[in-house]
Amino acid sequence: MLGLFGKSITPIKEVLEAKPLNKMVTVAGWVRTRRDSKAGVSFVELSDGSHIRPLQLVIPITLENSGRDLPRLHPGTSLLATGLLIPSIGKGQELELQVEEFGILGPSDPESYPIQKKRHSFEFLRSYPHLRPRTNTFGSVFRMRSRLFFQIHRFFQERGFYYISTPIITQSDCEGAGELFRVKGQSESGEEFFGRPTYLTVSGQLELEAFALSLGKVYTFGPTFRAENSFTTRHLSEFWMVEPEVAFLDLYGLIGLAEEFMRHLLSTTLIESREELEFFDRWVSAGLIKGLEESINKEFVIMPYEEVIRVLCESKEPFQYPVHWGVDLKTEHERYLTERYVKGPVFVIDYPKEIKPFYMKLNPDGKTVRAMDLLLPRWGEIIGGSQREEELRTLMERMEELKMDMDRYWWYLDLRRYGSAPHSGFGLGFERLLLYLTGLNNIRDVIPYPRTPNTIVV
Ligand code: 4AD
Repeated sequence: MLGLFGKSITPIKEVLEAKPLNKMVTVAGWVRTRRDSKAGVSFVELSDGSHIRPLQLVIPITLENSGRDLPRLHPGTSLLATGLLIPSIGKGQELELQVEEFGILGPSDPESYPIQKKRHSFEFLRSYPHLRPRTNTFGSVFRMRSRLFFQIHRFFQERGFYYISTPIITQSDCEGAGELFRVKGQSESGEEFFGRPTYLTVSGQLELEAFALSLGKVYTFGPTFRAENSFTTRHLSEFWMVEPEVAFLDLYGLIGLAEEFMRHLLSTTLIESREELEFFDRWVSAGLIKGLEESINKEFVIMPYEEVIRVLCESKEPFQYPVHWGVDLKTEHERYLTERYVKGPVFVIDYPKEIKPFYMKLNPDGKTVRAMDLLLPRWGEIIGGSQREEELRTLMERMEELKMDMDRYWWYLDLRRYGSAPHSGFGLGFERLLLYLTGLNNIRDVIPYPRTPNTIVV
């Protein structure tokens, strides 16, 4: 148990869930609000971040330090309080702490503390990434985020996958889009720190493939970096990606894995993060819970790219970006497909090779690759993956076509030289998953410290 000044501190979550009525407990947290009543007590809502709901403290003005300290209990003040837990007769809470002793740990200046009682816009709160987790919305986001991390590891570990820490500093451009951040030593004077150019990884996939072709079923889950100039509500320069990679698995097996994975995350979140979801359903995105519940049972439709193009062309929709075979799907196309045509999640497969990275397995038609993207209504692409090209010759031909530097990838080609095998994998954008599960609109609101072009607050 955590402790301070010889007292053990009970997390508010434990108090609210275990309800140890008529017991003395000590809690510590930050003041949300204070209301002074005429009856000689002050009501303080105290939150310690462990639970979405605060604990109501009832502090009598007769306590020794009340005269001095009660008026100082402004929002944001940190507080230690000991008292008896009793049923509450007030509205809105089942129990309250009848405080017998309290002390301010750290004051908070009401003139300058930015997180006041009234609701602030998400945009305003983005200027305070260090304080916004104290609000209900962001506290909820980050509790959910933590639980999802655990569930992701649990999903793979329970299915016999091994976790591989793929490198952050790499020589490869996995996605081939040239959206790399360069890594340099501080005192570098023209010489490369590693003797050759290095970058922050855009995906752990290439390095992970080596482990799939040794340990069978593996996954990585780490930060990835993209220097793309996308100013959208779905793009970050630093985001987290979970990437499973499996030997002896084809595209359809991979789709099955992605479906099972999504269902696992949905169903565990609906149970574990119920209170947070109810909060988002009420304040952020009406109908969220119903939508998520329906998604668990919804069939995931699979559509080849060619069919998608046909559907879009036949739709007669006035798309801003014209549609023809070979174009990359834009948000407007994805939304039409998922929201109006399929009315649910859809795996689009077999994309033209020109709009996909070099490593995807070429189909017998010589034009398309065994790619799969999972598109969701409202959110668009959340997963991107493929069966990988396992034939050395075909892979080298593709790399030559793309004028890639073969020497940089000698080790990747080795995997096709020695015991190559069909294998597949995908990447799920963790923050996009959080947008989907919270109903929030802006990806900057689901990562603790967002990094986007021209913006870095903390
Ligand atoms: O489709 P992507 O680029 O796939 C890969 O990187 C593969 N190497 C993964 C693999 O097969 N192992 O990215 C995967 C997912 C996207 O579907 C999207 O959810 C997310 O990563 N993503 C981003 N999320 C936030 N900000 C960005 N700039 C993102 N770019 C991609």
